[in-house]
Amino acid sequence: MSMADYRKEEYWSRFANNFNDDQTYVVGEAVQQAIFERLSGESGLGELLEFGCGAGFFTKALAENASHVMATDLSDEMLAVARTQLKDCQNVVVEKTDCERTNFTDEKFDSVFMANLVHVIESPSTVLQESCRILKGGGLLLIVDYTGYGMKRFEIMKMVIRYLRKWGKAGKPPGYFRGRLSPDELCSLVESAGFKVEEVQLLGDKMKALYLRGKKI
Ligand SMILES: C[S@@+](CC[C@H](N)C(=O)[O-])C[C@H]1O[C@@H](n2cnc3c(N)ncnc32)[C@H](O)[C@@H]1O
Repeated sequence: MSMADYRKEEYWSRFANNFNDDQTYVVGEAVQQAIFERLSGESGLGELLEFGCGAGFFTKALAENASHVMATDLSDEMLAVARTQLKDCQNVVVEKTDCERTNFTDEKFDSVFMANLVHVIESPSTVLQESCRILKGGGLLLIVDYTGYGMKRFEIMKMVIRYLRKWGKAGKPPGYFRGRLSPDELCSLVESAGFKVEEVQLLGDKMKALYLRGKKI
């Protein structure tokens, strides 16, 4: 592992303990509920690959609509929490994978899911191109990303305070963090990687999340 990869993993591992509850405290239950409602309507996901699964917060909801889920993340600590969270899901395997450099064969999966990854990684284009490579023709890409886009300034300030309370300065996001990704920006990233965007929506009321469905062309 290169020093840069080690630093990335070390950065994320410090959040692993209690990550799901902490994240709910920061973003609130309402927007998460809106995301779960959308995910529960995604039927027939087949063989699904999840990148950046973290502590497995959304994985269980996906597993109900997929024949098999490979849930992956860069951080061993996150994966350890995910394994505990998902121990009762018979069709989920949890595995360490760097989403920017995977060993999966071409056209292996029916669907790819990533939540809150595009706005935190240095090169979203790389993970989107990798997703396109490992998806079957016509395969489904599902993206969820919390965003400050469309939020009132006051709500952003309150969220930053909650973030600092939970994670303090140790959780300071890297310089390339995209905190206000817009629907247009996300569409353009996804289309450049070889997908047709079928739908992009801004979910939530006070807190917002992007929800995108795309198909491999
Ligand atoms: C903001 S968390 C989101 C976790 C989960 N998807 C969720 O929404 O609750 C971002 C996750 O991406 C992982 N991650 C960051 N860079 C990665 C990479 N290059 N490859 C795989 N996972 C990565 C981190 O370890 C972390 O678990």
